[in-house]
Amino acid sequence: MRISALLATTLVSLLSLTPHRTYAATCHSDLSKTDFPNCLLLESRYALHWSVDEKLAEITFGVTVDVDNAWIGFGLSENGGMRGADIYVISPEREGKLGVRGYWADGPGVPALDTQQNAKIVESWTKRGAGKTTAVWKRKLNTCDPQDHPIANVTEQSVIWAIGSSDIFGQHAPENRGSSRVTFRPDPNVKPAVADPSDVQTFEYHFNYTVPNDKPTTYTCSHRLFALPSADTKYHIIHYEGLPQSKLVHHMIMYACIQPPARTEDYYDCASMDQYCQQYVMGWAPGQGKTQLPNEAGLPVGKDGFTYFSLQVHYENPDLLPNVVDTSGFKISYTPTLRQHDLGTLFVGSTRINIPANSMSHTLDAACPGGCTKRFPHPITIWKNLFHMHSTGTAMQTRHISSNGTELAPLGIRTHYDLNFQSQTDPIGGLRTFNPGDQLLTTCSYSTPSRSNATRFGESTASEMCFNILQYWPRIPEVEWCVDHGGVSSCTTLANFTGVGMKKYQELAASGVNLDTQEGLKVLAGEWVKSGLFVPAALGNFTKYEGKCERSGGLSGTTVGSGAAKMQGLGALVMGLVAAVIWTLA
Ligand SMILES: *[C@@H]1O[C@H](CO)[C@@H](O)[C@H](O)[C@H]1NC(C)=O
Ligand SMILES: *[C@@H]1O[C@H](CO)[C@@H](O)[C@H](O)[C@H]1NC(C)=O
Ligand SMILES: *[C@@H]1O[C@H](CO)[C@@H](O)[C@H](O)[C@H]1NC(C)=O
Ligand SMILES: *[C@@H]1O[C@H](CO)[C@@H](O)[C@H](O)[C@H]1NC(C)=O
Ligand SMILES: *[C@@H]1O[C@H](CO)[C@@H](O)[C@H](O)[C@H]1NC(C)=O
Ligand SMILES: *[C@@H]1O[C@H](CO)[C@@H](O)[C@H](O)[C@H]1NC(C)=O
Repeated sequence: MRISALLATTLVSLLSLTPHRTYAATCHSDLSKTDFPNCLLLESRYALHWSVDEKLAEITFGVTVDVDNAWIGFGLSENGGMRGADIYVISPEREGKLGVRGYWADGPGVPALDTQQNAKIVESWTKRGAGKTTAVWKRKLNTCDPQDHPIANVTEQSVIWAIGSSDIFGQHAPENRGSSRVTFRPDPNVKPAVADPSDVQTFEYHFNYTVPNDKPTTYTCSHRLFALPSADTKYHIIHYEGLPQSKLVHHMIMYACIQPPARTEDYYDCASMDQYCQQYVMGWAPGQGKTQLPNEAGLPVGKDGFTYFSLQVHYENPDLLPNVVDTSGFKISYTPTLRQHDLGTLFVGSTRINIPANSMSHTLDAACPGGCTKRFPHPITIWKNLFHMHSTGTAMQTRHISSNGTELAPLGIRTHYDLNFQSQTDPIGGLRTFNPGDQLLTTCSYSTPSRSNATRFGESTASEMCFNILQYWPRIPEVEWCVDHGGVSSCTTLANFTGVGMKKYQELAASGVNLDTQEGLKVLAGEWVKSGLFVPAALGNFTKYEGKCERSGGLSGTTVGSGAAKMQGLGALVMGLVAAVIWTLA
């Protein structure tokens, strides 16, 4: 809902029509626990109730909101933003009776009415007056309508909400909205989070920074030593929490550094992030509370883990307010009482990016081939996806192909990628078992209609990336980087990739090989494979996953983009490789 922030100034006149507000919403004040076993207070003004009927494959939503003279909005969002959101608006229709209408937000701005209306108001429970509104409506778990999101089984989903300024649906005031995460159909077998051990300690990392007022959008980075009680002890991070302190904070990301940072400034523009501090660890976006790591695994810090962290804060200051000092950051809880497993990070995706200028749509495929994953000493359980591209990214997905040649449901899909809503998502269908020899095929799509130059791989926002940063357990320390460089895929640690990549590049350049040519790059790829840290990026033939919509609400997910098996020889090495090496030299 970034658009609302940008339009804030034009909304001042609307704000004079302040909604009546005399009542604080609570769960189950107006809807019973019997009818609605589930409820989440999305904000002090907005209670979301729901009940799921698996037999009828239906969900009933019930919201209680503390206004009685304005429209109410609720949406199923791809990742917390408006783009690609399935939105329901409750407002008076015939004879002043409240009705529900479905909308679809394909892009930023006011969403459009759905072609097909799949939700029905439940009149017996719907009422308003005395400063509050209760609205109840139902729909199929999976409507099979591309303008609706399915209610996923077991998987956490993003929801967004808004309260209008009058009964006429339109722009809402920036403070009358928010987002949250909900698992509508939790796994009945899932065990509750284990209690914290008694030796949990906390570390707070926060800024103390004056938000720039010479531009509306700022990404500021800073890094810090994670001051641990003992340098030669290993600890596990077990939960964390974003601590936003200013309304100007749009989102925050904490990265770990693979070695002490090279940058020395206190605060700097993230357009050139420290090259050693780019390993995603945790994020925060509005509405997000405490994140609990799985019972099975903790994030290792200290001995055998990270010691430096880097914090990135994105500020939106549309009114160019001066002298706003922000002290936002994270509170991290960690313990020397280790969980059974370390949480590992695996990068998949591509550095072989070369998006033509003025391109409406450009798509690339990237392999994490079985040739790499068959080196895994054991199966892994994938816990989260984090899709990462920059500003020209439009869609992304990671497909999962079993070692027996059968493609499984995709690991995750973003159809409306938004740089500003990047938080981690559950694999489709919940925790995913990934066996040695299985393969991942990541597809990234971009649109550059107003760029007059080609866009290459790089860390600055003018360049692009294509990474799905997976978190899983048990950690395999030897492989954290299974990234397609065009014909070859790395199968190593990030540190070894950087080290070996640079060394081989420099050796070959010194021996006279021209690395600006296809031939030269082929030599480099050959050397890389010889080092044992790279494998050919060829995927074998496989049977495509046929995503089909099941109105029963079962597992679904269709793949987008090119579907053919990818067979690329070493000779197909392209310029992305050079970008990757340049990146490591930067
Ligand atoms: C921020 O910095 C100022 C000036 O150095 C200091 O007075 C203040 O206590 C700091 N605030 C926090 C929360 O650290
Ligand atoms: C291939 O492996 C997957 C699990 O990885 C399994 O679900 C599927 O039944 C297998 N298919 C065949 C044809 O063996
Ligand atoms: C595009 O490329 C041209 C030629 O290399 C260069 O002069 C120009 O600065 C580039 N433009 C941008 C916006 O990077
Ligand atoms: C990879 O890195 C590890 C330590 O980080 C080192 O011991 C090992 O020799 C490296 N392997 C290669 C082939 O460079
Ligand atoms: C893939 O299938 C094609 C056509 O069926 C076949 O010619 C080719 O050898 C297969 N490749 C592999 C690696 O199995
Ligand atoms: C939902 O997931 C649970 C846990 O994996 C499974 O037992 C159940 O059969 C699934 N329900 C549907 C409708 O797929």
